[in-house]
Amino acid sequence: MRLTVHRSADPQSPATYEVPEFEGMTVLDALHWVRTHHDPSLAVQFSCRSANACRECACLVDGSPAYICTVPATGEIEVRPLPNRPHLHDLAVEL
Ligand code: FES
Repeated sequence: MRLTVHRSADPQSPATYEVPEFEGMTVLDALHWVRTHHDPSLAVQFSCRSANACRECACLVDGSPAYICTVPATGEIEVRPLPNRPHLHDLAVEL
């Protein structure tokens, strides 16, 4: 899949990554793959990771708000930080 990430703190933003897919992969999983293989400094918030309980992973996915731990990662996806919250770093915002 192709993942484009807009990072609030990075003047080089956005960056696009080709991420190998696996069954059941979510956008949060894809971002972790990017952190592991390209840039460990990429900031993304999460706690429960797929339990859809903490709601810390909210981002804009292809222009719509979503909890990225529940969005399947397939095809082409663009992720941005929520626009209506103060930005902390990259995809992390004040909750
Ligand atoms: S990581 Fe908790 S809702 Fe997504």
